[in-house]
Amino acid sequence: SNIKLDYSKAYPFFDSGELGKLCDEVIYHHEKLHVNCKKESAANCLGWVHQPLRIDLDEINQINRASQKVKSDSDILIVIGIGGSYLGGRAAIEALQHSFHNNLSQEKRSAPKIFFVGNNLSPTYTADLIDLLHEKDFSINVISKSGTTLEPAIAFRIFRNLLEKKYGKQMASKRIYITTDDTSSPLNSIASTEGYKTFIMPANIGGRYSIFTAAALFPMAVSGICIQDIVTGAITARNELKSPKIAENPAYQYAAIRNILYRKGKTIEILVAYEPSFKYLTEWWKQLFAESEGKDKKGVFPTTAIYSTDLHSLGQYVQEGRRDLFETTIKVVSMQRDIIIEKTSCNQDKLDYLSGETMNYINDKAFSGVVLAHSNGGVPNIVVQIPKMDAYNFGYLVYFFQLSCAMSGFLMGVDPFDQPGVEAYKKNMFISLERPEYTNANMI
Ligand code: PA5
Repeated sequence: SNIKLDYSKAYPFFDSGELGKLCDEVIYHHEKLHVNCKKESAANCLGWVHQPLRIDLDEINQINRASQKVKSDSDILIVIGIGGSYLGGRAAIEALQHSFHNNLSQEKRSAPKIFFVGNNLSPTYTADLIDLLHEKDFSINVISKSGTTLEPAIAFRIFRNLLEKKYGKQMASKRIYITTDDTSSPLNSIASTEGYKTFIMPANIGGRYSIFTAAALFPMAVSGICIQDIVTGAITARNELKSPKIAENPAYQYAAIRNILYRKGKTIEILVAYEPSFKYLTEWWKQLFAESEGKDKKGVFPTTAIYSTDLHSLGQYVQEGRRDLFETTIKVVSMQRDIIIEKTSCNQDKLDYLSGETMNYINDKAFSGVVLAHSNGGVPNIVVQIPKMDAYNFGYLVYFFQLSCAMSGFLMGVDPFDQPGVEAYKKNMFISLERPEYTNANMI
């Protein structure tokens, strides 16, 4: 497998017998997952299992053609969406493109700048983004499976208005790209009335499992990522991670270990990366696991950290605070870029012991020092290792986490594909905003 799961630093906290005890349960859930996902019903929400295979060349070509149009007529793409409908695309763009892709000069950037909005209700954020559009050509991509989520709906109203004022209704309509469900979403009917280019989010794939659909692939393509490589990575993962046996399937090992640790009181998991550009990959993971597993008063609480940055904030707690944590680290064997520490003539800063070493080498030493110190301090450590971070490996890793998450939810005894708890705050908000349908409802 492309992924190597190293749990040697989690082993002191459990033994192989405990893993062995979960084997039959894992096989049972694996078979259920693979039988049920063949059923086409929307309700089963298992379309993601085969999605990398289902997406055909025609759809990839359509996404690429639309992205070419955006590249040719826009300085900026505004991506509107929240939760699972936007985190996958953002995760890929941040992890795979230049760390400062929006700040590169025109000559060094072959793609439009990409900004995300509709993922909060802040007028400051939204107004500040509008400031950037002054005298710029832009297009918008609205991603909302339901087509009814308030945050993206408000942003769509605002940015559509700006587009129509700038280009006129007719020309603006050629700059609006909608990604939504084609059965029940009101966005779908708006798009067909107004003639907007539309991509479909399959009904049997939930938002947080939608990364291999146009929801994430279209913004990725606009940013210049090879989406075929993303999909190929996912297809390989699907083929390589198909054994029902824990011993042969690292995705199920990860799911089983986090469940064993949870049962031993390790109820908080920190997903760690040593690359700031993986921030949104870790955010995507957080959303995937939180919404899939946190229900029925159960679930590992997923949180994230970027080291070494957060070693200077969370590090103290992780080393010596409450012992209810475990860490999972995404480790990349070979990073594309590196910097050599040069020798100076006077060693004024006393760093000459590092002369000739690379920053990747030093980052790696930080990683091994942390894993040892934290595990010796009572924090089990799991390492998810990938050979490098490119589109192919990104697709592979994301599929690995999706499969692990589904299995982890099953082992936890919850439905990993619903999110009933997200509705509670919405209900209270709509009642206080006096939304007509909520006139007689009571606050939760
Ligand atoms: O993962 C999920 O299902 C959620 O995070 C949704 O993606 C999020 O609530 C946005 O929903 P929608 O795409 O319907 O606007």
